[in-house]
Amino acid sequence: MIECAPIATLVQEAIGYDPASTGAGTFGSTVRAQMQCNGQCGPCAERLQSSPERLQALLDALVVPETWFFRDRQTFALLAALARERHTHPIRILSAACATGEEPYSIAMTLLDAGIAPERFEIDAVDVSTRAIEAARRAVYGKSSFREGPPNAYFTVDEDGARLAAEVARLVRFLHGNLVDRTLLAGEEIYDFVFCRNVLIYLSAGARKVVFENLKRLLKRDGVLFTGPAELAAFVTEGFRPLPHAGAYACTRPAAPRAKPAARAARRPAPAELPKPSPAPSPPAWKRRLEDARRLADAGELERASALCDEVLAVEPLAADAHFLKGLVEEAQGRMRSAEEWFRKALYIDPDHYDALLHMSVLSGGNAEVYARRAHRLSEREGQHG
Ligand SMILES: C[S@@+](CC[C@H](N)C(=O)[O-])C[C@H]1O[C@@H](n2cnc3c(N)ncnc32)[C@H](O)[C@@H]1O
Repeated sequence: MIECAPIATLVQEAIGYDPASTGAGTFGSTVRAQMQCNGQCGPCAERLQSSPERLQALLDALVVPETWFFRDRQTFALLAALARERHTHPIRILSAACATGEEPYSIAMTLLDAGIAPERFEIDAVDVSTRAIEAARRAVYGKSSFREGPPNAYFTVDEDGARLAAEVARLVRFLHGNLVDRTLLAGEEIYDFVFCRNVLIYLSAGARKVVFENLKRLLKRDGVLFTGPAELAAFVTEGFRPLPHAGAYACTRPAAPRAKPAARAARRPAPAELPKPSPAPSPPAWKRRLEDARRLADAGELERASALCDEVLAVEPLAADAHFLKGLVEEAQGRMRSAEEWFRKALYIDPDHYDALLHMSVLSGGNAEVYARRAHRLSEREGQHG
């Protein structure tokens, strides 16, 4: 149950944020702490509507700006390899939902280390949080930003933290921007590479649709989109095509839609009168638990999500989705071997588990192509994945 429904609606309309993604309790307590509504949600929502500054402060408090340098290292290895092959000048890259800057700065360092001269690339970085953008521009970081290893030679460390060298910091242009605004970056040249990672998981289904449309518009025809581990399947469902590469979550733009053969459509018989569907039975308890586990995983509560999956598997050992979710949780914690084992088990139970096939196409090194082909065949056969 979402507290303060009028405020939840306002926030959802503003940035697409789904209050359930971080747990209804978190949403309620953040709103209470930020707004001091004393149960008066209606007037509070009106105050928010009349003050863009107040709304922005609430959004800053609600978003999850968690990020770190070189998050999912393989992604940056793939970027370096692909950028070396690009002959466009300059190579244009967008970090969409850049949070406090670790992602776009990692992109800059990766390209410099790949021997690409600074004048050969341009990096734009957008985020809806002004607080995060201000921190990104400061470019001084604490310990939590270095989960994949200590600060490298581009940083100097002093009592304030690790400061990024000015010659790297100036390579990123930070912009305040909203991914669910249909005019996002309108008028800008489009991009060779777009990073849109770990943000879709916080958005409502309607907002995701707008993000998909924006990214299709902003990505060049031969461009590459990098996603978060839990988000690749959502993009592929929208028609993006996965790029098999061990450990990196990447896809290319959807193919242009094929023209429908008009004659066949005309010959289709009129639909028969179908019996009214009876109301859907409510799902069994273990399925509801699995849904809770998925919500916890999306909110970053990985340990709790994993424990709930274990409970599901204790009563329903053949639940392929529970094995799959265990794999996602392992993957999110960087335990790729273990993740692969869980995805393999999901596929053993259900050889047509589309999401597990996709993740295996990323993780399984030498067999990546085999899994990608199986996923592709499945999507062709069922026509439901893009
Ligand atoms: C978990 S961080 C992801 C950072 C980085 N992409 C990464 O993967 O490490 C999510 C970021 O998405 C931003 N965000 C959420 N909704 C947004 C929207 N509608 N438009 C732009 N940014 C948004 C938040 O402000 C937050 O900084």
